Amino acid sequence: MKLLITGVSGQLGSAIYKISKYENYGTYLSNLPKTNNKNIKKVDITSYNDISSFVKKIKPNVIIHCAALRNVDLCEENKELAWKSNVIGTKNIVDICSELRIKMVFISTDYVFDGYTGGYKEDDAPNPINFYAKTKVIGEWLVQNLEDFFIVRTSMLVSNLPGNYVDFTLSGLKSGGISGATDIKSSPTLVSELAEASISAIEKDLSGIYHMAGDEMISRYEFMRTVATIFGYDSNLIKPTTSDELKFKAKRPKDTSLDISKIKNLKIKFSTLEDSLKKLKVQ
Ligand SMILES: NC(=O)c1ccc[n+]([C@@H]2O[C@H](COP(=O)([O-])OP(=O)(O)OC[C@H]3O[C@@H](n4cnc5c(N)ncnc54)[C@H](OP(=O)(O)O)[C@@H]3O)[C@@H](O)[C@H]2O)c1
Repeated sequence: MKLLITGVSGQLGSAIYKISKYENYGTYLSNLPKTNNKNIKKVDITSYNDISSFVKKIKPNVIIHCAALRNVDLCEENKELAWKSNVIGTKNIVDICSELRIKMVFISTDYVFDGYTGGYKEDDAPNPINFYAKTKVIGEWLVQNLEDFFIVRTSMLVSNLPGNYVDFTLSGLKSGGISGATDIKSSPTLVSELAEASISAIEKDLSGIYHMAGDEMISRYEFMRTVATIFGYDSNLIKPTTSDELKFKAKRPKDTSLDISKIKNLKIKFSTLEDSLKKLKVQ
Protein backbone atom coordinates (compact mmCIF):
# COMPACT_ATOMS: atom_id res chain seq x y z
CA MET A 1 0.00 0.00 0.00
CA LYS A 2 1.18 3.52 -0.84
CA LEU A 3 0.51 6.21 1.79
CA LEU A 4 0.87 9.93 1.20
CA ILE A 5 1.13 11.95 4.41
CA THR A 6 0.74 15.74 4.19
CA GLY A 7 2.45 17.73 6.96
CA VAL A 8 5.23 15.22 7.38
CA SER A 9 7.38 17.86 9.12
CA GLY A 10 4.69 18.30 11.79
CA GLN A 11 4.14 16.44 15.05
CA LEU A 12 1.59 13.92 13.83
CA GLY A 13 2.71 13.60 10.20
CA SER A 14 6.29 12.80 11.23
CA ALA A 15 5.09 10.20 13.75
CA ILE A 16 2.91 8.44 11.16
CA TYR A 17 5.73 8.51 8.59
CA LYS A 18 8.10 7.00 11.16
CA ILE A 19 5.93 4.07 12.21
CA SER A 20 4.17 3.16 8.95
CA LYS A 21 5.52 -0.01 7.36
CA TYR A 22 3.94 0.82 4.01
CA GLU A 23 5.44 2.66 1.03
CA ASN A 24 5.40 6.15 2.52
CA TYR A 25 5.47 9.51 0.78
CA GLY A 26 5.26 12.90 2.44
CA THR A 27 4.93 16.62 1.86
CA TYR A 28 6.13 19.57 3.93
CA LEU A 29 6.09 23.33 3.45
CA SER A 30 9.02 25.07 5.15
CA ASN A 31 10.72 22.62 7.52
CA LEU A 32 12.58 19.84 5.73
CA PRO A 33 12.16 16.75 7.97
CA LYS A 34 15.35 15.23 9.38
CA THR A 35 14.20 11.68 8.64
CA ASN A 36 15.15 9.74 5.51
CA ASN A 37 13.60 12.06 2.97
CA LYS A 38 13.90 10.35 -0.36
CA ASN A 39 10.10 10.19 -0.72
CA ILE A 40 9.46 13.57 0.87
CA LYS A 41 8.79 16.67 -1.21
CA LYS A 42 8.20 20.35 -0.53
CA VAL A 43 4.67 20.97 -1.79
CA ASP A 44 2.37 23.85 -0.89
CA ILE A 45 -1.07 22.27 -0.57
CA THR A 46 -2.71 25.63 -1.32
CA SER A 47 -1.54 25.23 -4.94
CA TYR A 48 -3.84 22.75 -6.70
CA ASN A 49 -1.36 22.24 -9.54
CA ASP A 50 1.56 21.48 -7.22
CA ILE A 51 -0.21 18.97 -4.99
CA SER A 52 -2.11 17.45 -7.89
CA SER A 53 1.02 16.74 -9.96
CA PHE A 54 2.75 15.15 -6.93
CA VAL A 55 -0.25 12.94 -6.16
CA LYS A 56 -0.61 11.93 -9.81
CA LYS A 57 3.03 10.88 -9.89
CA ILE A 58 2.75 8.71 -6.77
CA LYS A 59 -0.80 7.39 -7.12
CA PRO A 60 -1.24 6.65 -3.39
CA ASN A 61 -3.98 4.35 -2.07
CA VAL A 62 -4.58 6.63 0.91
CA ILE A 63 -3.81 10.28 1.68
CA ILE A 64 -3.52 11.16 5.38
CA HIS A 65 -4.05 14.90 5.50
CA CYS A 66 -2.27 16.17 8.62
CA ALA A 67 -1.05 19.50 7.23
CA ALA A 68 -2.76 22.56 8.68
CA LEU A 69 -2.20 25.97 10.12
CA ARG A 70 -3.02 24.98 13.67
CA ASN A 71 -1.82 27.98 15.66
CA VAL A 72 -5.22 29.09 16.93
CA ASP A 73 -4.23 32.71 17.64
CA LEU A 74 -2.41 33.10 14.30
CA CYS A 75 -5.53 31.82 12.49
CA GLU A 76 -7.57 34.52 14.27
CA GLU A 77 -5.05 37.24 13.35
CA ASN A 78 -4.46 36.10 9.76
CA LYS A 79 -7.78 34.73 8.57
CA GLU A 80 -6.71 34.82 4.93
CA LEU A 81 -3.76 32.52 5.58
CA ALA A 82 -5.89 30.25 7.78
CA TRP A 83 -8.55 30.00 5.05
CA LYS A 84 -5.95 29.24 2.38
CA SER A 85 -4.11 26.63 4.43
CA ASN A 86 -7.03 24.86 6.07
CA VAL A 87 -9.92 25.29 3.63
CA ILE A 88 -8.34 25.72 0.17
CA GLY A 89 -5.56 23.23 1.01
CA THR A 90 -8.09 20.65 2.18
CA LYS A 91 -10.38 21.31 -0.81
CA ASN A 92 -7.47 20.71 -3.19
CA ILE A 93 -6.80 17.33 -1.61
CA VAL A 94 -10.51 16.43 -1.58
CA ASP A 95 -10.75 17.26 -5.30
CA ILE A 96 -7.73 15.11 -6.13
CA CYS A 97 -9.05 12.21 -4.01
CA SER A 98 -12.40 12.50 -5.75
CA GLU A 99 -10.84 12.53 -9.23
CA LEU A 100 -8.46 9.62 -8.59
CA ARG A 101 -10.75 7.71 -6.16
CA ILE A 102 -8.27 7.82 -3.30
CA LYS A 103 -9.29 7.26 0.32
CA MET A 104 -8.79 10.42 2.38
CA VAL A 105 -8.02 10.51 6.09
CA PHE A 106 -8.56 14.00 7.50
CA ILE A 107 -7.18 15.04 10.87
CA SER A 108 -9.68 17.31 12.57
CA THR A 109 -9.97 18.70 16.05
CA ASP A 110 -11.96 18.74 19.29
CA TYR A 111 -12.20 22.52 18.71
CA VAL A 112 -15.05 21.94 16.24
CA PHE A 113 -17.20 21.90 19.42
CA ASP A 114 -18.20 24.99 21.41
CA GLY A 115 -16.97 23.49 24.69
CA TYR A 116 -20.09 24.14 26.77
CA THR A 117 -20.64 20.53 27.79
CA GLY A 118 -17.54 18.36 27.13
CA GLY A 119 -17.54 14.58 26.66
CA TYR A 120 -18.49 15.05 22.99
CA LYS A 121 -19.58 12.10 20.84
CA GLU A 122 -19.13 11.83 17.07
CA ASP A 123 -22.71 12.80 16.26
CA ASP A 124 -22.81 15.87 18.52
CA ALA A 125 -23.21 19.03 16.45
CA PRO A 126 -20.06 21.09 15.77
CA ASN A 127 -20.35 24.75 16.72
CA PRO A 128 -16.94 26.43 16.29
CA ILE A 129 -16.22 29.56 18.33
CA ASN A 130 -12.92 30.68 16.74
CA PHE A 131 -11.63 31.01 13.17
CA TYR A 132 -9.24 28.02 13.29
CA ALA A 133 -12.14 25.81 14.36
CA LYS A 134 -14.38 27.22 11.61
CA THR A 135 -11.78 26.31 8.96
CA LYS A 136 -11.57 22.76 10.34
CA VAL A 137 -15.37 22.34 10.35
CA ILE A 138 -15.49 23.48 6.72
CA GLY A 139 -12.68 20.99 6.01
CA GLU A 140 -14.82 18.24 7.55
CA TRP A 141 -17.81 19.23 5.36
CA LEU A 142 -15.67 19.11 2.21
CA VAL A 143 -14.18 15.72 3.12
CA GLN A 144 -17.63 14.26 3.82
CA ASN A 145 -18.53 14.67 0.13
CA LEU A 146 -16.05 11.94 -0.74
CA GLU A 147 -17.11 8.36 -1.31
CA ASP A 148 -14.40 7.01 0.99
CA PHE A 149 -13.26 9.19 3.87
CA PHE A 150 -12.19 8.85 7.48
CA ILE A 151 -12.25 11.86 9.80
CA VAL A 152 -10.20 11.71 12.99
CA ARG A 153 -11.10 14.27 15.65
CA THR A 154 -8.25 14.50 18.09
CA SER A 155 -7.23 16.74 20.98
CA MET A 156 -4.16 18.44 22.50
CA LEU A 157 -1.28 16.44 21.03
CA VAL A 158 1.39 15.32 23.50
CA SER A 159 4.91 14.73 22.19
CA ASN A 160 8.51 15.36 23.19
CA LEU A 161 9.05 17.86 20.36
CA PRO A 162 10.08 21.47 21.05
CA GLY A 163 7.07 23.75 21.41
CA ASN A 164 4.74 20.98 22.53
CA TYR A 165 2.63 21.57 25.68
CA VAL A 166 4.96 19.20 27.60
CA ASP A 167 8.05 21.19 26.55
CA PHE A 168 6.20 24.44 27.35
CA THR A 169 5.32 23.16 30.83
CA LEU A 170 8.82 21.85 31.54
CA SER A 171 10.40 25.17 30.44
CA GLY A 172 8.03 27.01 32.78
CA LEU A 173 8.89 24.69 35.66
CA LYS A 174 12.63 25.13 35.02
CA SER A 175 12.24 28.89 35.14
CA GLY A 176 10.50 28.79 38.52
CA GLY A 177 6.78 28.37 37.84
CA ILE A 178 3.95 28.53 35.34
CA SER A 179 0.20 29.12 35.31
CA GLY A 180 -2.36 26.63 34.01
CA ALA A 181 -6.02 27.36 33.25
CA THR A 182 -8.46 25.46 35.44
CA ASP A 183 -11.37 26.24 33.11
CA ILE A 184 -9.98 24.77 29.84
CA LYS A 185 -10.45 21.05 29.58
CA SER A 186 -9.56 18.55 26.83
CA SER A 187 -8.34 14.98 26.20
CA PRO A 188 -4.51 15.07 25.87
CA THR A 189 -3.38 12.56 23.24
CA LEU A 190 0.01 10.88 22.90
CA VAL A 191 1.11 11.51 19.31
CA SER A 192 2.80 8.12 18.85
CA GLU A 193 -0.40 6.40 20.01
CA LEU A 194 -2.51 8.47 17.60
CA ALA A 195 -0.11 7.59 14.78
CA GLU A 196 -0.48 3.84 15.57
CA ALA A 197 -4.26 4.21 15.82
CA SER A 198 -4.44 6.03 12.47
CA ILE A 199 -2.56 3.19 10.76
CA SER A 200 -4.81 0.60 12.48
CA ALA A 201 -7.89 2.50 11.31
CA ILE A 202 -6.60 2.42 7.72
CA GLU A 203 -5.88 -1.31 8.00
CA LYS A 204 -9.41 -1.90 9.31
CA ASP A 205 -10.69 0.25 6.42
CA LEU A 206 -12.75 2.40 8.81
CA SER A 207 -14.83 5.20 7.38
CA GLY A 208 -16.87 8.07 8.79
CA ILE A 209 -16.02 10.18 11.84
CA TYR A 210 -14.17 8.86 14.89
CA HIS A 211 -12.94 10.56 18.04
CA MET A 212 -9.37 9.36 18.65
CA ALA A 213 -7.90 10.97 21.75
CA GLY A 214 -6.41 10.27 25.15
CA ASP A 215 -8.53 8.35 27.62
CA GLU A 216 -8.84 11.15 30.16
CA MET A 217 -10.64 14.49 30.31
CA ILE A 218 -8.43 16.95 32.16
CA SER A 219 -7.90 20.71 32.66
CA ARG A 220 -4.73 22.52 31.54
CA TYR A 221 -3.90 23.08 35.24
CA GLU A 222 -4.19 19.36 36.03
CA PHE A 223 -2.26 18.56 32.84
CA MET A 224 0.67 20.72 34.02
CA ARG A 225 0.57 19.25 37.53
CA THR A 226 0.73 15.74 36.06
CA VAL A 227 3.69 16.73 33.83
CA ALA A 228 5.47 18.14 36.92
CA THR A 229 4.89 14.95 38.92
CA ILE A 230 5.95 12.53 36.17
CA PHE A 231 9.07 14.55 35.29
CA GLY A 232 10.13 15.01 38.92
CA TYR A 233 9.22 18.66 39.59
CA ASP A 234 7.27 20.17 42.49
CA SER A 235 3.66 20.37 41.26
CA ASN A 236 3.11 23.38 43.56
CA LEU A 237 5.09 25.40 41.00
CA ILE A 238 1.94 25.26 38.85
CA LYS A 239 -0.39 28.13 39.68
CA PRO A 240 -4.10 27.93 38.89
CA THR A 241 -5.44 30.60 36.55
CA THR A 242 -8.38 31.15 34.19
CA SER A 243 -8.60 31.49 30.41
CA ASP A 244 -9.75 35.13 30.85
CA GLU A 245 -6.56 35.97 32.72
CA LEU A 246 -4.42 34.36 29.98
CA LYS A 247 -5.90 36.84 27.42
CA PHE A 248 -5.70 34.66 24.30
CA LYS A 249 -6.27 36.41 20.95
CA ALA A 250 -8.73 33.74 19.85
CA LYS A 251 -11.60 32.57 22.05
CA ARG A 252 -10.97 29.13 23.56
CA PRO A 253 -13.77 26.59 23.96
CA LYS A 254 -13.87 25.63 27.67
CA ASP A 255 -14.40 21.88 27.66
CA THR A 256 -13.73 20.01 24.40
CA SER A 257 -13.02 16.65 25.99
CA LEU A 258 -13.96 13.80 23.68
CA ASP A 259 -15.93 10.61 24.26
CA ILE A 260 -13.79 7.87 22.67
CA SER A 261 -16.05 4.88 23.25
CA LYS A 262 -16.72 4.35 19.49
CA ILE A 263 -13.01 3.72 18.71
CA LYS A 264 -12.46 1.80 21.98
CA ASN A 265 -15.20 -0.62 20.97
CA LEU A 266 -12.98 -1.55 17.99
CA LYS A 267 -10.16 -2.45 20.40
CA ILE A 268 -8.09 0.60 19.49
CA LYS A 269 -6.92 1.87 22.84
CA PHE A 270 -5.61 5.19 24.14
CA SER A 271 -3.80 5.88 27.40
CA THR A 272 -4.57 8.16 30.32
CA LEU A 273 -2.37 11.26 30.58
CA GLU A 274 -0.21 9.73 33.31
CA ASP A 275 0.50 6.61 31.22
CA SER A 276 1.09 8.74 28.10
CA LEU A 277 3.70 10.83 29.90
CA LYS A 278 5.41 7.72 31.30
CA LYS A 279 5.64 6.34 27.74
CA LEU A 280 6.92 9.70 26.46
CA LYS A 281 9.69 9.71 29.05
CA VAL A 282 11.17 6.52 27.62
CA GLN A 283 10.63 7.31 23.90
N1 LIG B 1 -1.44 19.88 17.85
C1 LIG B 1 -2.60 19.70 18.48
O1 LIG B 1 -2.70 19.81 19.71
C2 LIG B 1 -3.83 19.31 17.67
C3 LIG B 1 -5.04 19.10 18.34
C4 LIG B 1 -6.16 18.72 17.60
C5 LIG B 1 -6.07 18.55 16.22
N2 LIG B 1 -4.88 18.78 15.60
C6 LIG B 1 -4.82 18.60 14.14
O2 LIG B 1 -3.87 17.59 13.88
C7 LIG B 1 -3.18 17.84 12.67
C8 LIG B 1 -1.68 17.72 12.89
O3 LIG B 1 -1.29 18.68 13.88
P1 LIG B 1 0.25 18.87 14.26
O4 LIG B 1 0.30 19.31 15.67
O5 LIG B 1 1.03 17.69 13.82
O6 LIG B 1 0.60 20.13 13.34
P2 LIG B 1 2.02 20.84 13.18
O7 LIG B 1 3.05 20.17 14.00
O8 LIG B 1 1.77 22.31 13.37
O9 LIG B 1 2.35 20.57 11.64
C9 LIG B 1 1.63 21.19 10.63
C10 LIG B 1 2.15 20.68 9.32
O10 LIG B 1 1.42 21.30 8.26
C11 LIG B 1 2.35 21.72 7.26
N3 LIG B 1 1.74 22.82 6.50
C12 LIG B 1 1.15 23.94 6.97
N4 LIG B 1 0.72 24.69 5.95
C13 LIG B 1 1.01 24.00 4.79
C14 LIG B 1 0.83 24.27 3.42
N5 LIG B 1 0.24 25.38 2.97
N6 LIG B 1 1.29 23.35 2.52
C15 LIG B 1 1.89 22.21 2.93
N7 LIG B 1 2.09 21.90 4.23
C16 LIG B 1 1.67 22.81 5.15
C17 LIG B 1 3.58 22.14 8.05
O11 LIG B 1 4.72 22.18 7.20
P3 LIG B 1 6.07 22.96 7.63
O12 LIG B 1 6.32 22.68 9.08
O13 LIG B 1 7.13 22.32 6.76
O14 LIG B 1 5.87 24.40 7.35
C18 LIG B 1 3.63 20.99 9.07
O15 LIG B 1 4.23 19.85 8.49
C19 LIG B 1 -3.64 19.22 12.19
O16 LIG B 1 -4.56 19.04 11.15
C20 LIG B 1 -4.33 19.84 13.39
O17 LIG B 1 -5.40 20.67 13.00
C21 LIG B 1 -3.75 19.14 16.29
